[in-house]
Amino acid sequence: MTTPTIELKPSSNLVPAAERERILANPGFGRHFTDHMVTISWTEGRGWHDAQLVPYAPLSIDPANMTLHYAQTIFEGLKAYRQADGSVATFRPEANARRFQRSARRMAMPELPEELFVAACDALVRQDVDWVPASGEESLYLRPFMFATEVGVGVHPANEFLFIVIASPAGAYFSGGVKPVSVWISDDYVRAAPGGTGEAKAGGNYASSLLAQAEATAHGCDQVVWLDGVERRWIEEMGTNNLFFVYGDRVATPAFSGSLLAGIVRDSLLTIAADLGYEVAEERISVEDWRRASADGSLTEVFGCGTAAVITPVGQVKSKAGDWTVPAPGEVTMRLRRTLLDIQTGAAEDAHGWLHRV
Ligand code: COI
Repeated sequence: MTTPTIELKPSSNLVPAAERERILANPGFGRHFTDHMVTISWTEGRGWHDAQLVPYAPLSIDPANMTLHYAQTIFEGLKAYRQADGSVATFRPEANARRFQRSARRMAMPELPEELFVAACDALVRQDVDWVPASGEESLYLRPFMFATEVGVGVHPANEFLFIVIASPAGAYFSGGVKPVSVWISDDYVRAAPGGTGEAKAGGNYASSLLAQAEATAHGCDQVVWLDGVERRWIEEMGTNNLFFVYGDRVATPAFSGSLLAGIVRDSLLTIAADLGYEVAEERISVEDWRRASADGSLTEVFGCGTAAVITPVGQVKSKAGDWTVPAPGEVTMRLRRTLLDIQTGAAEDAHGWLHRV
């Protein structure tokens, strides 16, 4: 099967420039979408076909569309940044492409070739380049996703899928900027269990997280922290973010457990922290460790990280077993955040070749 090329069918009805500028002045997160999208179809026996860039528009969905019933749907999130010289680059799109393939395998969906994933993102960013914020920490958030399009309510892997990339200008994910968040440690609900779909970026993982997030809100917290599904003891993630724990010059993050999402920012920060001279570790971290090390002062900072939210300091912790605080935002948190953003925007050397010029 050959890899299709993306046919360009641009819109003749763009959002007026004044309206676009008004949106870019205060984009928020995920509220506004650009003029175009890329769509690529997959059919069993035929493979990937009909790759096209078309005007952004609603889809018409059959009520018996299999995704609506059985949630065979996965997604990615990556950002395009305006560089100091005015050009635009995406951050590690190949890593997103490979994670998308792993998610597809887990959800019995077809794997999109890495080069087609990257070409689709490039085509959309090139076409809608005026939607990339001027500079600084704002970006164009790309949302590649794939879902079953077969019609029917029998339970089996679908024989047709649609891959789409849309784009949305992005300001701060959490309103209030780099403000420490409070977290509720959930032990009633788990995000994922060994052998489940926690390592996949699958829509259902996010649906099942919403009730626990509502519980966190009811306890006066901004975010939920997930524990492992077996012992309900080991820290896994925070909301939709990976977590990092700073002990002076030592930076640690929960090790992969089979139910953790392999964050691309998580991976990048492990490298950046080592480059900056910190000792880095991927290890099991328990709730008891978190509380004890906060009390004796050896735990100096905690932060969450992800593509959408970048880095978010954690200040206050609440749980059924008690509440405690960690000083925030800490120096290491802010240094890692600055270094990552400087690499993403071209203000610091891209020593690992992470930027992909569009
Ligand atoms: C991302 O950081 O890209 C995420 O996956 C969070 C998203 C669900 C808003």
